[in-house]
Amino acid sequence: MTRTPQPCPAERAEIIGETPADIARAARLILAGGIVGVPTETVYGLAADATSGAAVAAIFTAKGRPSFNPLICHVADLAMAETLAEFSPLAQRLAERFWPGPLTLVLPRRPDCPVSELATAGLPSIALRQPKHEATLRLIREVGRPLAAPSANLSEQLSPTRAAHVAAGLGDRIRLIIDGGACEAGLESTIIAPGETVAVMLRPGAAARQDIELFTGPLSAPEAASGVLAPGMLKRHYAPRARLRLDAEHAEEGEAFLGFGPPPAGVTARLNLSARGDAAEAAANLFAMLRTLDLSHDRIAVAPVPEVGLGEAINDRLRRGAAL
Ligand code: TXA
Ligand code: MG
Repeated sequence: MTRTPQPCPAERAEIIGETPADIARAARLILAGGIVGVPTETVYGLAADATSGAAVAAIFTAKGRPSFNPLICHVADLAMAETLAEFSPLAQRLAERFWPGPLTLVLPRRPDCPVSELATAGLPSIALRQPKHEATLRLIREVGRPLAAPSANLSEQLSPTRAAHVAAGLGDRIRLIIDGGACEAGLESTIIAPGETVAVMLRPGAAARQDIELFTGPLSAPEAASGVLAPGMLKRHYAPRARLRLDAEHAEEGEAFLGFGPPPAGVTARLNLSARGDAAEAAANLFAMLRTLDLSHDRIAVAPVPEVGLGEAINDRLRRGAAL
């Protein structure tokens, strides 16, 4: 009997749970220089030992990032963060109020900071946050080192908010993904550089501007602050395959309508970010719904989302997703 040779199936990532044995396995892989898909409350990250240049380089290779953007380093707690960066009193207050949670602080690197220069792209600063996800916090504690992690998607594509999204994009490039469920916030962290004279918002995100401004006063745009770098804010980013048309009142022929709030009379929304017009609910649904519509449609019309609270970050992602 002859057998037809079968193509060897590409290696696929294994999706594991959050048991102590699962976390121990992920920690061993990371300590051996490997990369692991990890859940956070914002989006899934692609994590590696931030102190290893080779491990950090493997993240860039897996993502297919065109250039070496600096990465966020994820810490177990404020004490670990203080071994990496200089905390001003304001930075300390922000960490105490917002951590664990979706606020990333860009701070001066300490001279003895052990994080690889590749992770911070040779900058004198470092981006830090303590994620609010028990499994990933246990992983960081078990590794005992900060984890560098960008969002776990191919460069420019939609960020993943489920373990299955990570597997769909990177499944043949990584070995392990920890399934920590659907991301609670669904949008990346807000990135702030709380400088001496002016605090800058480098990226709107899942922590709303007005909550941060209670501590910092009015936040400046990156352009306003000379000397503060905001690399990685690519014009086209977070993009589905389909064309996006924003601030749409209804769908044209061939478009799927993605609603926000009650749709106008006579208009049917294919999906609704939040039927009750709640921005937090819309943020949590945004990337997953764009993925779903992307499977069936070449064009997506998106209802207007008011630019208040989390609407600022939702509109930022939509505009980048719509850019050509
Ligand atoms: O919610 C999040 O922030 C997710 C999860 C996984 O934590 N991470 C994430 O990482 O979105 P990433 O690599 O996709 O975005 C990191 C952003 C980039 O725009 C990068 O340029 C900026 O942070 N960044 C990192 N270090 C910086 C630094 N030292 N100065 C200025 N910007 C920095
Ligand atoms: Mg990203």
